[in-house]
Order: sequence, then structure tokens, then C-alpha cells
Amino acid sequence: MRTDYDSIAERYKRAKLQPWRNCIETFTLLDLIGNLSGQAVVDVACGEAFYTRRLRAQGAARVLGLDLSERMVELAREQEAEQPLGIDYRVGDGKNLSLPSEFDLAVAAYFLNYAADQHELEAMCAGISACLRPGGAS
Ligand SMILES: C[S@@+](CC[C@H](N)C(=O)[O-])C[C@H]1O[C@@H](n2cnc3c(N)ncnc32)[C@H](O)[C@@H]1O
Repeated sequence: MRTDYDSIAERYKRAKLQPWRNCIETFTLLDLIGNLSGQAVVDVACGEAFYTRRLRAQGAARVLGLDLSERMVELAREQEAEQPLGIDYRVGDGKNLSLPSEFDLAVAAYFLNYAADQHELEAMCAGISACLRPGGAS
């Protein structure tokens, strides 16, 4: 499936290298997430894996990245091939998630903003909630 991100995937990847991303955005998100040791994590709207790879590096036992954009997932898989971390990537629509309830944490940075209306927002939240184990967090 083609999405708006296919044509800007490389530019987006470069944009993630801006210093403020690391000093403010990454710091804040990872601080909020806390200890990931041993956890199964799904990164919904993972993009080219900027955070997906950091989640694994922070100690997550298993990480799945999912994004609507084939090109973004391709870039994520290229990084996995160059420096394997054991992360799985899938092309998929986060508005229609159908993952098993086996994740301890769902991360969805810059995802819910793609809801066009309340119905889509509810579908996104329901899909995220359904893929979490009892006691899981998002
Ligand atoms: C601003 S980027 C954020 C990427 C990544 N989370 C990050 O913080 O670097 C937004 C991402 O959301 C993805 N996206 C938009 N709608 C989506 C959907 N319905 N399902 C899955 N991914 C979606 C886009 O393809 C894009 O990769």
C-alpha cells in the first residue's frame, strides 16, 4: 500500500538525526517508558525504526515494529540487516490492528494524530488495547 510517507521516508529518517530529537524527544519518551527489561514491545507506526531500535537497545526482550508505509518498513529492515537486533517488522494498518494479546507495552509515537475522526481514534485505541497482556501498558 502506498502512503504519504513512502516519498519522504529517507528525508524523515534524516530529520530524526537533528540534535533536539535526541536531547528532548528521545530523552522524554525513553524516560517516560522506563525499564523495558524482558518486555515484549510493539511499536505501532514505527516509521523507519528510530525508536523501535532504541526500545530493543533499552532491554526489551522482543520488539515488533509495524507501519503503514512500505518504504518506511523497508528502511527499518535495511537497518536490521546492517546491524541485526532481532526486531521483526511488518507493514500494517494501525487503524485495523489484529495482533495477539501478548505485548507488555505498546508504543505509538506520532500515531494517534492520524485519526481522521472519533471513530478512527477509537479503533486505534481498541487495537492497541487488544494487543496488550493483562496489566500491559501503552
Ligand atoms: C511522524 S512518523 C513517526 C514514526 C515513528 N513513530 C517515529 O517517532 O519516528 C508517522 C508514521 O506513522 C505512520 N502511519 C500513519 N498512519 C498509519 C496507520 N494507519 N497505521 C500504521 N502506521 C501509520 C506513517 O507511515 C509514519 O511512518
